[in-house]
Parts: sequence; C-alpha cells; structure tokens
Amino acid sequence: PKTAAAASNRFAFEGIAASTADDIVVPQGYKAEVLVRWADPMWSDSVAFDQASRGTAASQARSFGDNTDGMEVFMYDGHVLLAVNNEYTNREIIWGNRPEGKAETADDIEKGMLAHGVTILELANDGSGWKVVIDSPFNRRITPQTEMQLTGPAAGHDLLKTTADATGTVSLGTWNNCGSGKTPWGTYLTCEENFNGYFSAADEAHEVSAELKRYGVSSKDWGYGWAKVDERFDVSKNPNEPNRAGYVVEIDPTDPNSTPKKRTALGRFKHENAEVVINNDGRVVIYMGDDERGEFIYRYVSNGVYAAGVDTDELMNNGTLYAARFDASGKGEWLALTPETTGMDLAAICVHTRQAASKLGATTMDRPEWVTANPNSDEVYCALTNNKNRGVKPNAGGDETPAEGPNPREKNNYGQIVRWRPEGGDHAATAFDWDLFVLAGNPTVHSDAYAGSENVNDGNMFNSPDGLAFDSNGLLWIQTDGEYSNDGDFAGHGNNQMLAGDPVTGEIRRFLVGPKEAEITGLCWSPDLRAMFVGVQHPGEDGDSHWPDGGDSVPRSAIIVVTREDGGLVG
Ligand code: FEO
Ligand code: CA
Ligand code: CA
Ligand code: CA
Repeated sequence: PKTAAAASNRFAFEGIAASTADDIVVPQGYKAEVLVRWADPMWSDSVAFDQASRGTAASQARSFGDNTDGMEVFMYDGHVLLAVNNEYTNREIIWGNRPEGKAETADDIEKGMLAHGVTILELANDGSGWKVVIDSPFNRRITPQTEMQLTGPAAGHDLLKTTADATGTVSLGTWNNCGSGKTPWGTYLTCEENFNGYFSAADEAHEVSAELKRYGVSSKDWGYGWAKVDERFDVSKNPNEPNRAGYVVEIDPTDPNSTPKKRTALGRFKHENAEVVINNDGRVVIYMGDDERGEFIYRYVSNGVYAAGVDTDELMNNGTLYAARFDASGKGEWLALTPETTGMDLAAICVHTRQAASKLGATTMDRPEWVTANPNSDEVYCALTNNKNRGVKPNAGGDETPAEGPNPREKNNYGQIVRWRPEGGDHAATAFDWDLFVLAGNPTVHSDAYAGSENVNDGNMFNSPDGLAFDSNGLLWIQTDGEYSNDGDFAGHGNNQMLAGDPVTGEIRRFLVGPKEAEITGLCWSPDLRAMFVGVQHPGEDGDSHWPDGGDSVPRSAIIVVTREDGGLVG
C-alpha cells in the first residue's frame, strides 16, 4: 500500500481531499474569487449578461468570450494586461436548448462564433482584489473575424490562397485556441487546436483531400454551423481555408490595433501550447505538443539569436522544426523536418507538418498537451493526457501507436507526464534523456500499472493531466481535464482539479478542485505573485452545474483569482 510522501517544505499548503461539489475548493488559508465570467461586459456600452436569452451576437462581441483557456499576464507601462484564449463554446449552454444544441437563427451561429477567440483585458487591484478595468484602452476581443497576417515559409504559397485572399497572406480570425505562450519580448502566443470541427460542405458527399483528412477535416462540422453564415467554412468551395488554421498566432497585447501574426514556421497541427525557452546560445527554442492520439511533440529552433532590439519577426519566421523520437532506452532524439529529410518543400512542411513528421519516424504519443520548462534546471515536462483507444487512428494517415517508451500502457485512461533533459543543457541539442515524472492512476482500484507511479496515492490521485506550468519557485502545477464520474476506474478522483508537484522529490499535492463537469485550464500569476489566476472551463457541459452563480443560473466558464488570506505569496 502506498502512503503520502514525506512532508516537504517546498509546499506552502496542505493537500486537500477530492470533491464532487459544484464549487471551488482550495486549501485552508486560501480563498478563490471570480474575476470574469463568460459574457461579462468589457466596456460601459456592453450589455450585461441576460440569463433568459443568454445574449446575442451583438452583446457577445462586446463581452468576455466563452471557455477560458491558456492565459498570460503582461506588465506594460504600469498596466497589468491579461491575454486569454476563449477556446470554444458549449452549444447547448450558449443557445440554452439542451439536448439539441442546434442553432435556430443566423444570430445564434454568429453569437457562437464571437464567443471564440482571444480576449485582452486590463486588470487592476486597488487593494480590494483584482478586477477587470472596464473601458481600458487595452481591452480587446479578437474573434474568428479579426484580420491576421500569415507569416513565415508558407506565407503566400498556393496552399494558403483562397477566393477571398489571392495573396495567401491575409486570413481572418482564430478559433479553438487552447494553450498559450509568452515571449521574452512581451507578446502573447495563442495556439490553434481543433480548428477542423468548424468546416463543412453544403454537399455532405463532398470528399476532402487526404491532406485535410489527416487533420480531421470532413464534410460535416461539429454543430457550429459557421459555413451557413460564412462560405469560407465550406470546404467544397474553399478547400484551402483549413490550411490557414492550425498555427501558433503571435499577438501584441499592448496595441489593440495590432494585426495578429500566424507563425507558419512553427508548424501546423492541433497546437496545445508554446513554451518559449531562450537557449544558452541565445536562440529561441519553442516546445509544442500536438494534442491528438498518436501525434507528436515538436520543437522549433530559431536561426537567429534573441537580444534586446533584434527583429523578432525574423526569429519567429526563420528556424528549424523538429519532431521527437523517444527510445525505450530512456534516450531520445530530435528529428529535423527539412526538405532534405522529408522530400517536401519548406512551405509544405509548415502546412502538412504531421505528414512530414510521420516520414521521419517520430514517436506517436498519448495526446501531448501542455509543455513547460523548469526555470531552475534544464528539463522540460509534457502532459500526455490519456489514450483510451490505442490502435484506433483518429485520422486517416496516422501512424501505429504501440504501448511502449513514454506511452507504456495499452488502455491509458489516466495519462502521464513525461520529462526530458537536453544533452549538455543545450535546448538545441539533438539528443535528450527522458523519464516519466508521474503515471497517473488509481491505487484504490488497481494494483498493476494502472495504480499509477509511486508518487500517486489515495490522497492525491487524478486523471488526464493537461495544463502544466512552473511557478517562480520551481513547483510544477498540474491541471486536469478528465473523467469526473468519480466512479469505477475514477472512483475517488472527484471533479477536475489542480495539483502541485515537486520535480525533485516527486511529491504531488492536490491544491484546488473545480465545480461539476468543468476542467481546470490556464494558469498565470499577478506581477506581485500574490494572486494566481486559474481558468475554469465548461462547467455543466453535461447539464449538471450552476457554477459560479448558483441557484438555477446558467453555468459560465470563468477565471478565478486564488490568494492567501494573509496576503502572502502564491507563486
Ligand atoms: Fe484544448 Fe488539448 O486541450
Ligand atoms: Ca488543454
Ligand atoms: Ca485536454
Ligand atoms: Ca477543454
């Protein structure tokens, strides 16, 4: 039987019990308050959320988007700016028509569309807690309709040209943005993930190309109906439009008139997040996961070196993309995706990145989610969230997915966190060593590999690690997006949660539990490290939550602020 690891003074809290309450639970001495909810006003002319109608396209355009995800805080000229993704919307919730979840009007579809994208908010704390600054000149909504620039090796290539944009350099909008990243030059990186689910064909018999099938694009969308109001989402009419999504997008949060830049050099896949590391030699290294069963982990290494005043467009547009091969020995190698190694031209590598990586024998992973680098040592962690259908390829053209190496379990309901150490502490090196920081599991139900690794016990068990972030002290924060049935294999796991892990001792403690049917995703800190901003996504996705407002209110995704009651540091 496993017992909780010995107490460690690196944790400033006692681990809490699992919970199935429709509420946020935090340790004794901490408190959690709501900062901003889906559809909360950002300007004084915004219309407050209407519980009965759940808003309109017009009200959504002037308010906070839905399903908060990756976020980062920026300090600019004395202002505290929060940039945050609004990944998607729960159609049954936004339209209030469970169980159908079907749009009834064009305004419904447009409201859904405008609930997606990115929100930039100014925050302030006058001593009574962190609040959104209504009418701040920095406040901005970026939506699937915002003009963006396509940059890097694929910009202007035939693969990116459409009827509306014969130049292949100007695309409209960003949607399904999952995790995030932050550059040392003060820009926000937003990562386009499940972009495919928004495309359809008026003729459902339309056959999409093999290249699009690898990304899950088909003639049927997931119910959003965007092609009904905007033809560019009809793949039979605009077969290249999906090639203009699936990128990391760089945004200047300090200039509300700036044009976001899609960075094709960082590859096209279902991007989770983008973890930026400045290597010892000054080159920019960006670690990225492709969140799909059987897809890969990637690394970008810039050609140029970062220093104050350099042209950062150059750093983000010119470099080499690599995919990871993890060997059973505990060693691994980064495989360069170049015209020489893949037989593809550079633009095609940037657009058909999955196919390029398949040619090199990169290792298929159990759904790579967030990647984060330890600020105290040269090691990098990636959450492999789960793989419930090993062997069943989610998309045409994918590779075999054997249970081996960092993906050791055949039916992986629980997930694991892999970490690697680049050879010689050089993030641009070819070789690395890897091991597993934790195999999640359930030691009260299983006694084999499904019990989890030694650092999992009945007091801290969880499933489906997703969000990962290190704090300034080098504690690894782990957020979950998994099964919340609290039953069977998941008995005792409770609702989705956030834990902290000690990378040195391996100890893991549960810090926070979310409300019903939510995932916890997105984490950053106030500049003074006295507040932790945490995202709560899709509460009540199956119809059983009234968080955060209680009673019979509409459940609303929200960002919460976690602080210590004594005002102490939390990061
Ligand atoms: Fe949007 Fe991979 O989670
Ligand atoms: Ca995620
Ligand atoms: Ca997830
Ligand atoms: Ca999610």
